[in-house]
Amino acid sequence: MRFAVLLYVLFGGTAAVKRSDFKTCAQSGFCGRQRAFGELATLEKSSNNESEDSSRYLLLTSTLKIDAVGGTVGAQILDSLSNARFQLDVTLLRSDIAETSSDAPTLRTRVFELNPLHASPFDVANADNLALVSPLPPAQNFSIVHQSPSLLSIRLANNIILTITAKPFSWSIARDNVDVVSFNNRHFFNYEYQRAKSQEKSDDPPVAVKQDDGDESGADPLVPPSKPKELSEREKLIEKLKKDVQKDMWEESFSGKQDSKPRGPTSIGFDIEFPGFSHIYGLPQHASSYFLKPTRGENAPYSEPYRLYNFDVFEYELDNPMALYGSVPFLLAHKKSNSVLGGESVGLLWVNAAEMWVDVEKTVQGTSTHWMAEAGILDLLIFLGPTPKDVSNQMTHLTGRSALPQHFSIGYHQSRWNYIDEQDVHDVDVKFDEFDIPYDVLWLDIEHTDGKRYFTWDKVKFAHPKVMQDELAVKGRKMVSIVDPHIKSDDGYLVSKKATELGLWVKNKDGNHFDGWCWPGTSHWIDYLNPEGRKFWAEQFKYSNYEGSTKNLYTWNDMNEPSVFNGPEITMQKDNLHFGGYEHREVHNIYGTLLHRSTAEGHLLRSDNTDRPFVLSRAFFIGTQRYGAIWTGDNTASWDHLAISIPMLLTIGVSGVTFCGADVGGFFGNPDNELLVRWYQIGSLQPFFRAHAHIDAKRREPWLAGEPYTGLMRESVRRRYRIMPYLYTLFWEANQNGVPVMRPLMYEFPGDEATYAAEDAFMVGDTLLVHPVVQPDVSTVQVYLPPSSNWYDYDTFAPVKSGHSTVATPLEKVPIFIRGGTIIPRRDRIRRAVNLSLRDPYTFIIALDTQQKAHGQIYTDDGHSYEYTRGAYIHARFAYSNGVLSATTVRGNGRDAGLGSRVERIVLVGLKSGGVKSVVVEGSGKRLEFKSEGGVVVVKDPKVIVGEEWKIVVS
Ligand code: GLC
Repeated sequence: MRFAVLLYVLFGGTAAVKRSDFKTCAQSGFCGRQRAFGELATLEKSSNNESEDSSRYLLLTSTLKIDAVGGTVGAQILDSLSNARFQLDVTLLRSDIAETSSDAPTLRTRVFELNPLHASPFDVANADNLALVSPLPPAQNFSIVHQSPSLLSIRLANNIILTITAKPFSWSIARDNVDVVSFNNRHFFNYEYQRAKSQEKSDDPPVAVKQDDGDESGADPLVPPSKPKELSEREKLIEKLKKDVQKDMWEESFSGKQDSKPRGPTSIGFDIEFPGFSHIYGLPQHASSYFLKPTRGENAPYSEPYRLYNFDVFEYELDNPMALYGSVPFLLAHKKSNSVLGGESVGLLWVNAAEMWVDVEKTVQGTSTHWMAEAGILDLLIFLGPTPKDVSNQMTHLTGRSALPQHFSIGYHQSRWNYIDEQDVHDVDVKFDEFDIPYDVLWLDIEHTDGKRYFTWDKVKFAHPKVMQDELAVKGRKMVSIVDPHIKSDDGYLVSKKATELGLWVKNKDGNHFDGWCWPGTSHWIDYLNPEGRKFWAEQFKYSNYEGSTKNLYTWNDMNEPSVFNGPEITMQKDNLHFGGYEHREVHNIYGTLLHRSTAEGHLLRSDNTDRPFVLSRAFFIGTQRYGAIWTGDNTASWDHLAISIPMLLTIGVSGVTFCGADVGGFFGNPDNELLVRWYQIGSLQPFFRAHAHIDAKRREPWLAGEPYTGLMRESVRRRYRIMPYLYTLFWEANQNGVPVMRPLMYEFPGDEATYAAEDAFMVGDTLLVHPVVQPDVSTVQVYLPPSSNWYDYDTFAPVKSGHSTVATPLEKVPIFIRGGTIIPRRDRIRRAVNLSLRDPYTFIIALDTQQKAHGQIYTDDGHSYEYTRGAYIHARFAYSNGVLSATTVRGNGRDAGLGSRVERIVLVGLKSGGVKSVVVEGSGKRLEFKSEGGVVVVKDPKVIVGEEWKIVVS
């Protein structure tokens, strides 16, 4: 076992990340090769004798098949150097999506090798509904603008044109006649076709061949002009790069661990440019900024590309492009523009589950990216926005909408490694009530099991698991137990025995059961690529299999990158084998998500599809949002870790996975009281809100800090519980249109350049701007409130000047601002748990804009079942204008299901004085009691019902 891992197991929290446990790009064979290829292409392109068509990939126009009505283009691509052929499929996908103003279609381009020598590569998009939803939306017809032997131009939408160039193969998309995204403009496209090992023995450089359909092959960038006697520096560099592009093709080793690479090189690289785009975002997961920093070019802050390969990283470092627990190869590009909104976006997703690295470079033209993956196929989705919200909508239309969470799961979660026994659980639970702090879920970490055998209980410490869960359930609370994917190798353990009998384990390169080390010692891993493996796993959650579980027990899937303590880079060998004959290298990044999915399916199975699953996962990938929540893994109790939770969660959210959070308080170490309070203030406004701590961290349940700290943590938790109706509505919105709950400012203000790199503040929905305190001992923060809206202080309702200002931040102050023109539904009565409050009356905060208008909405249902799919919900819209607040029931028959509650208070904020004389419910003529003070009018008990139509007239 590696030293850092040993430390992790034994002491935890005593060391920093061991960089040498993880590869650099140069140490990861294909990344080194692809980067060298890019450098070579750049040198070639910049040389004086550059020929226009120096890239070796050519579209064979004689093979072109255009189906304008069916919305597809097909053609073959020739690698003129190796003679390998590839199929190009372009499809225009219809975007007849709900809740979007945009009709921009999505472009899909796929390139894959025709007749690969060894095996068909893993195609994660086409495999069993894995990364993309199935069926995909239908293709949309297009019209041809121009066609010649070298060029094909297609009108994708009114103002959007795709141009495909044959020599070399490249494409670009223009919006309003301006290029917004292009492929292979820099000639980095390099598809490592599958080959026989013997071919590579020769040291001779590959020779260009003439293609056989009459087109010319074009110049070869790899073959230099005749060698001069004395090599110049530039020529020496070219010589070196030409060696580098052939390195580590057939085997490589890292840290003494061999990767046998029986299929040789299979990687894919290409450049994507975003001309004119100043900012790009995405590519989670990294402990880095929201706005992606360059990794190439002069003064680039990073020298390594962003790496996407799911890892268990011990004590991860900040401000670093190293890979972490999850990966979504998604990128959002945004720029200022003259459009109505003042800004425009495009998005890009590479549907590929293999290890990936992405270089980012600022260029004169805009932003350029270089994508490199070790295996799979080239399957790119391009989302044409034009707003960031449209891109989220378009992407999750294909990768799946965020599941509507159970109401309890957006409450506060109390966790630590570990609550030691049933008595401990009981004591903690009782303390919450004693200190009047609401919470919804208590978590049990690995120590609750019988020797880290998941689905079992420690016979002494947790002898009565059902009684324990029932005691929580009486108070409306739930429990979560951890179920990790490493299954202890032990024939006396039923799960292990059965999986062995059924042959469900991941196999090593020799076809035997793979074993590795994790918490329980020697373990095996279920192969979730195998539908039988997924079924078996889901069945383990049946009450008859998981003894001691009840319907109030939900699940935490950890270590699912997967973490293998004695494996290369603390994970599985890349030459391990999965169902279908795929190598682990091809499927790695989706492995953890398949576990997540199987667990969610297990929850559905045990409840006969009546209870919405709740599963927290550490690893994530494209589509994770369909299965549950994720968190940012093992952070540290430090101020900089608190601060970085904001950009990390913003990035994960815009990449589709909105239900995300960071361990509140920090996993490693011991936060002081100030840090803990500030962390509760922020965590309570982020989508997933869970306090968690390492086994060696001191106990830190909110009451242990004492006053004033306990009171401040209580207030943060309560603040969240009050806005639950608003938060739930936001989760429903994400379920409808993919727009994240926690949003970057540029999502709401796409034309405001001052928001483009903002990551010290965030929006909760479109209404609340939060600019939290992430430093110790600060008495003020500098806040930016976009001037296109007017703003109010959340606590006092006092108007706040827009633009830049200084806000006082004593420890009790959380700088939260309400955007003018919005309506926030709240429930101000505090209960012990969310589910106990669902019949409570509402308070509406109506924050008026400068026109004295506001609008908002609410979505509500029973919070746990699927009855909403049969209409048992309420979705109502509210608008205030010309002194009338009106409620319109938009959809749902939730009133019949007993869902509507009354409104007990309406707070009108920002009313221009003139004095309110009366507030009347229209129709009834009932005059309502109200109190008016300094532009804030509080109307008492209007008794109108949410889910019915009514009007309240303020005059
Ligand atoms: C991992 C998890 C952490 C958990 C621990 C023990 O480090 O990230 O949250 O407490 O394992 O299960």
